Amino acid sequence: MNKARYVVGLDVGSSKTSVIVAETIGEGDVRCLALATAETKGLRKGQVSNLDQVASSIRQAVEDAEGQVGFPIDSCILGMGGGYIAGFNARGGLGLGNRPRDVTREDVRRAVHSARQARLPEGAEVLHVLPQGFWLDAQNGIRDPIGMVGRRLDVNVHLVTSPAVLAQNLVAAVNRAGVVVADLVLEPLAAAECVLSQDERELGVSLVDIGAGTTELIVYAAGVVRHTAAIAIGGDHFTNDLAVGIRTPITEAERIKREEVWSTVELGEHDRSIEIPCVGDRQPRSVPAREVAEILDARAQELLVLVRRELERAGLATAIPAGFVLVGGGARLEGLVEMAEKTLDAPARVGRPRGLAGLPEDAVAPEFAAIIGLALYGGRAQQVFEEQRRTFSARLKGLFLG
Ligand SMILES: Nc1ncnc2c1ncn2[C@@H]1O[C@H](COP(=O)(O)OP(=O)(O)OP(=O)(O)O)[C@@H](O)[C@H]1O
Ligand SMILES: [Mg+2]
Repeated sequence: MNKARYVVGLDVGSSKTSVIVAETIGEGDVRCLALATAETKGLRKGQVSNLDQVASSIRQAVEDAEGQVGFPIDSCILGMGGGYIAGFNARGGLGLGNRPRDVTREDVRRAVHSARQARLPEGAEVLHVLPQGFWLDAQNGIRDPIGMVGRRLDVNVHLVTSPAVLAQNLVAAVNRAGVVVADLVLEPLAAAECVLSQDERELGVSLVDIGAGTTELIVYAAGVVRHTAAIAIGGDHFTNDLAVGIRTPITEAERIKREEVWSTVELGEHDRSIEIPCVGDRQPRSVPAREVAEILDARAQELLVLVRRELERAGLATAIPAGFVLVGGGARLEGLVEMAEKTLDAPARVGRPRGLAGLPEDAVAPEFAAIIGLALYGGRAQQVFEEQRRTFSARLKGLFLG
């Protein structure tokens, strides 16, 4: 078995834990070999509250995936998400010497690396340093400075950080499940891999991942990451509102949310009633669908306004003509896309994962964007790495032969 060809992604979401196994098949292509999910237990608001429970959720998903592929899984790329992730823009740079000279790959690496020295939030560690654009002397807006000539190289980056303990506890749970973490990847960054087109990223687009516990967003413009943020509202808040509002158990509220209700937009002038069981053993009641729709609409409106504010705060409210791509299970809420278009005054669509060969049909759903993106992200990173290793060894061979 050629291990270098395999990529394993792990997403410990607040409602479900998923594992994907994929293989790189050349030319930047990646094929899905297995996708498994298990219910997540022991995680609260994106933080490990019970290590053993989280580890056993991971173990369950991993064993399912191992059964599908027929070989053991020993390492993975772990997706990071949740409300504690923080992103901000920073700057790095270095002098190239007194006389102008060619910029090398190593210069670029050092310039980008120096941006890590930015002041981080207390207890945070850097997950990603994403270059946005380079300056060479007085010229800015350079995407790839390698081979260009100058005296000083600067770079604007987007830094993504996470509280160190949060990552450590999650990694500890993965280790306890018998798997090593090879790398940590921000989930919206991974999801973007499989739902956003290059055109959208150039034009300006925001991916919004509405999970069970939190909503995360990432903004691209001019082909680079401009902003990342998290909002502490997810699909479960909709369910809770409903359970409280119409006095019904959580499981029933969840079912109604998913299956029964049309949004107020779709209800229009019409109305109908839905039968709901009550908490305890009282008789079932009938509730107007409009009442249910209004409760869900109010929460959706709140979430969308928070998304808009986040973009305004980052100065990006007018920077996203390609609009909003909604992923995560919460993106399935009826009428949400229409409401997003209205509230955010931009086009919106549900993002369905693509670009990975061999995906089972039921995996082409918004709640799998993060895990499928992890496989694509990992597969592509692996191929770039392979490519660099090949050119490096070719160069070495050239040296010896020359
Ligand atoms: N048809 C549907 N309509 C509305 N909401 C739905 C539907 N299907 C799933 N959801 C909601 O999606 C949420 C789960 O989404 P997802 O699987 O993306 O979350 P997660 O990745 O486990 O959580 P997080 O990303 O917050 O850690 C739940 O709140 C669920 O109620
Ligand atoms: Mg998620």
